[in-house]
Amino acid sequence: MNKADKVKKLKEENDAVILAHYYVDGEVQALADYVGDSYYLSKLATGVKQKNIIFCGVSFMGESAKVLNPDKNVIMLDETADCPMAHMVDLDKIDEVREKYKDVAVVCYVNSTAEIKAKSDVCVTSSNAVKVVSALPNKHIFFIPDNNLARYVAEKLPQKEFIFNDGYCHVHTEIRMEDVENAKRLHPDAVVMAHPECKEDVLKLADVIGSTSEIIDAAEKSDKKEFIICTETGVFYELEQKNPDKKFYVVRERQCCPDMKKNTVDKLIKALETLEPKLSMDEELMKAANLPLVRMLELAK
Ligand code: 13P
Ligand code: SF4
Repeated sequence: MNKADKVKKLKEENDAVILAHYYVDGEVQALADYVGDSYYLSKLATGVKQKNIIFCGVSFMGESAKVLNPDKNVIMLDETADCPMAHMVDLDKIDEVREKYKDVAVVCYVNSTAEIKAKSDVCVTSSNAVKVVSALPNKHIFFIPDNNLARYVAEKLPQKEFIFNDGYCHVHTEIRMEDVENAKRLHPDAVVMAHPECKEDVLKLADVIGSTSEIIDAAEKSDKKEFIICTETGVFYELEQKNPDKKFYVVRERQCCPDMKKNTVDKLIKALETLEPKLSMDEELMKAANLPLVRMLELAK
C-alpha cells in the first residue's frame, strides 16, 4: 500500500482529520484534508466533526485548535515543532503596560503561547489584524509579540496609539531589502509579494502584502506571470499547483522555517497509527485562552 492510501485508511479507521498550514512541506500538504493560513485553520477547528485532529504545523496552532474545540484530541506530528516568536513577550510587561495605560487593549498575534493569549484581550492573525484592531474601541493598543506585524497594522490605523514589543519571526526578518532588490533586478517584471512579518524596508518594496492565503489568492487572480515571494517556501506548493503557467521566485536560498519542516509524511503516518502525542492543556488555561480567540473570530467575521 502506498503512503497516501495508508493515510486514507488510517484516517477512516481512527476518525481523524488532517489539518495543515501552508508552510509545511508540499508532500504533507498533499495528504491533508484542509490546508490554510492561521485564520482559516482556527475557524475550521471550531467545527471539526472527527474525534481526532492531526495538526501539521507548530504548537501554537495545535493549542488554538484544542482551545477552540476542547472535546477533541489534537495530535501534533512533532511536539518539538514550536514557533520561537510565540514566546517573545515578557508576561510581566503585559501587566506593566496595563498599569500604565488604563484603556489599553492587549492584542495578541495568534503566533503566541496559550499563556500569552490568556493574558490578552483579543487575538489576531495576519489576515484579520487590521480589521480586528480597527473594530476595538480602545485608543492604546499593545500589540504582541510581533513587532513587524504591529508596525504594519499601526501604519494602517493612525487613529490608534500603538505600544510595540520586540518579537519577530526569524524566517521573515532574515529576508533583507538587498535580497529583494537583487531579485527585482533578476526578474524586473515580477510582482513582489510579502508577508507582514517581514521588516518594514522589505514591505516598502512589496506590491502585495498579505497572509499566506492572501498571497496565494492574489497570485491566482493576477494576470502577471512572475512573482517574487517574500515568505516561507512552503507556500510554493499551493502557488505552483494553482498556477502551473506562472513563475515564483524566492529572494534568498534559506527561506525555510525549521520548525514547520519537522512535519514529515512518516511522522504523519505514525501520528495516525498511534494517535499520539495528544496535546494536553490545563483546563483553566484553555478557558482563559479561549476568550481572545473567540473574540477574534467574532470581530473578524
Ligand atoms: P499566516 O498563515 O496566518 O499568514 O501565518 C504565518 C505564519 O507565520 C504562521 O506561522
Ligand atoms: Fe514562527 Fe516564523 Fe516559523 Fe511562522 S515562519 S512558525 S512565525 S518561526
